[in-house]
Amino acid sequence: MAEYAEPFYDVNLSYAENYERGPFGAFAGALAEQSSQPTGLSTSKSDANFLGFPVNLPFGIPAGPLLNSRFTTAAFRMGFDLAVYKTVRTRAWDCNPFPNVLSVHPRTSALTPGDAELDEGVLADGHFERPLSISNSFGVPSRDPDEWQPDMRAAIAAAGSGQLLIPSFQGSRHEGMTTSEYIADHVTAAKLVRETGAQLMEMNTSCPNEGRNRLLCDDPRLVGEITQAVKNEIGDMPLIIKLAYLPSDEALERMVRETASHGSVQAFATINTVSAKLVDRKGNQALPGEGRERSGVCGSAIRSAGLDMVRRLADMRERLGLDFAIIGIGGVMGPADYQAYRSAGANAVMSATGAMWDCELAHRIKGELVQQ
Ligand SMILES: Cc1cc2nc3c(=O)[nH]c(=O)nc-3n(C[C@H](O)[C@H](O)[C@H](O)COP(=O)(O)O)c2cc1C
Repeated sequence: MAEYAEPFYDVNLSYAENYERGPFGAFAGALAEQSSQPTGLSTSKSDANFLGFPVNLPFGIPAGPLLNSRFTTAAFRMGFDLAVYKTVRTRAWDCNPFPNVLSVHPRTSALTPGDAELDEGVLADGHFERPLSISNSFGVPSRDPDEWQPDMRAAIAAAGSGQLLIPSFQGSRHEGMTTSEYIADHVTAAKLVRETGAQLMEMNTSCPNEGRNRLLCDDPRLVGEITQAVKNEIGDMPLIIKLAYLPSDEALERMVRETASHGSVQAFATINTVSAKLVDRKGNQALPGEGRERSGVCGSAIRSAGLDMVRRLADMRERLGLDFAIIGIGGVMGPADYQAYRSAGANAVMSATGAMWDCELAHRIKGELVQQ
């Protein structure tokens, strides 16, 4: 892919190899530098505050691509002022088999849940090209807390001035588990995160924990119960929840009323990936193995869905007279996309796919803001 510089996550290597040897590209260079200061430009056009924390620019990388403290530290040094530490669990959890990332080529430039193409099949292969959309199929792997807790502590310590490390966690479901055990697993995860010295945390409700194609965020009442229990554990510390695209305003309002209205949640990070059936050129299943017929699509093709979700949440915030924060995610590939999310009502913006293939993305956004 000649037009892209080397991504910081190497899709041709396994997750374990990336974890041990990454990051790559310009992130590797930033990590090798002795300086602990972030490189590049700062901007005066900053909100200077996110959930009460000072930030240079409320822009960063969401849960997923930053696998450990080497990745988060490199992100800080490359000017990403918000870095989310990849979602952790209360126990070690295996990664789905390689490959985990494919390039996807939807027929339409904008994919929204409910589109027929998502069920008919979206072409997925190894040709990464602009406009870049990918699928990721990792299964939310996690190291054991004995390993991730000290590493998360190091990640927090590496944030520079005006930078913030946000840990992400989720509960794990097991065969035969009761609802109260499932809630308790979230509380344990939050407690383990708090022990690292975190100042805030993000809970992922948008991975298929509830069985195939069913997400925790499809059950606002349960999310309400879990966030209340987690909030009891973490006290005043801000809690963010990560949401998938929720097509119905009614479901979204129920989610807001079950969480932010009670004060158990201070921010929503949205959107996560959009589920699609992935096929190769012959129409066969693109990812090998059982249970991998569908996978999450992210990048350029989900930008309009992300913007739509942020606009609807911002409208709801105003109508209900609430003051939760919104982190806008989905298809942010350049400065105009950052601006579009801010205009839609996002207090902060993050990019996963865009940042992975463009290590200079934060510098480019800051450069553009300085010129305005
Ligand atoms: C490689 C990769 C791994 C991801 N892993 C997680 C994860 O562990 N937890 C999570 O909440 N989201 C995860 N995501 C989803 C992203 O945080 C984000 O919501 C999604 O990719 C949409 O943003 P984008 O269009 O900028 O990629 C992952 C995304 C990518 C690309």
